[in-house]
Amino acid sequence: MVQVKVLKYKIAVIPGDGVGPEVIREGVKVLRAAAEVAGGVDIDFVEFPYGAEHYLRTGELIPEEALKELSRMDAIYLGALGDPRVPTGVLEQGILLRLRFYFDQYVNLRPVRLYPGVPCPLAGKGPEDVDFFVVRENTEDFYVALGGRAKGRSKAELDLIRSLYEAKFKLDVDVDRDEIAYQLGVISRKGAERVIRYAFELARRKGKKRVTSVDKANVLTHVYSLWRDVFESVARDYPEIETEFAFVDAVTMWFVKNPEWYQVVVTPNMFGDIITDLGAMIQGGLGLAPGGNINPEGVSMFEPIHGSAPKHAGKNVANPIATILAGQMMLEELGEQKVADIIEAAVVEVLREGRVRTYDLGGRSSTSEVGDEVVRKIENK
Ligand code: IPM
Ligand code: MN
Repeated sequence: MVQVKVLKYKIAVIPGDGVGPEVIREGVKVLRAAAEVAGGVDIDFVEFPYGAEHYLRTGELIPEEALKELSRMDAIYLGALGDPRVPTGVLEQGILLRLRFYFDQYVNLRPVRLYPGVPCPLAGKGPEDVDFFVVRENTEDFYVALGGRAKGRSKAELDLIRSLYEAKFKLDVDVDRDEIAYQLGVISRKGAERVIRYAFELARRKGKKRVTSVDKANVLTHVYSLWRDVFESVARDYPEIETEFAFVDAVTMWFVKNPEWYQVVVTPNMFGDIITDLGAMIQGGLGLAPGGNINPEGVSMFEPIHGSAPKHAGKNVANPIATILAGQMMLEELGEQKVADIIEAAVVEVLREGRVRTYDLGGRSSTSEVGDEVVRKIENK
């Protein structure tokens, strides 16, 4: 009798809000089909209800017990969060960022890859020109939620801000009467080091020859000079990899002008958020851009980076490819390269053919038709 070793994974699924449930349904469908075809991999999907509906009904964002339960999973597969019925930031902070922080998912990995057959908004650029990774730090910087509106702050904070206005600025602000707000960014040597090291390791693993560090060290001198110091010291361990610094404003320009220059880009959290939306556009749009919130030693979470797109919700029109590719990244992270490759090959084929595509790519197919087509390619392999 032939013994086949079956690896069983428990994947938490959080469909979430807006188009989240529609795209995640296709993602799960594709992952099931790919695992089946690859053989030896069994995925158990466990669905969790968190998101706007649950919040509006119960007042609960994500309870402690759920976080505990999630920590026993192999990974989290997330649709999207955000809903116009809930004040902006509540679900994003209370669920999405909460999960990123709780599981210390310190890497936000966002591949920027233009697949053949996908229209690119950059004149004269094709798939060979747009193929790099953005490694976004995912727990520090301006995402630490330190700050406040001046009213009701401690005397020490007010005094500090008052001295700033008195010593430096021409604007006559009375911090006791005039409203002010401020927010702090924090970078730690340890926090920068682990994500920068991840970027260099990724470069090695993927055969990339250059790592670009993005910052704004010319203005935000405190946080980003530390970032630069750490980058330089980590780089010394990778002598075969070329390095460079770039300011974030310049990077937005160069992504458009010379995307082919970039191989691995490592960036603090906030700038990473901004430049990966730009990255998504040059790879054909948000409908194609996946992301992984990775803790290499813990529970990681994979999601399309497009968000909940409430105006398209419930219409079965959203492009599920970003979510499907997020699933592919998840399998790769779990060490199931073969399943991941099957998924990517099927997506590549569907995109190249261009027959079944959603409205954002100029087609008229529905979300589920695209998912079905990817499944068909997988099964026909
Ligand atoms: C992203 C999103 C989130 C972020 C929001 C929804 C909190 O824009 O994943 O890029 O800023 O990280
Ligand atoms: Mn974003």
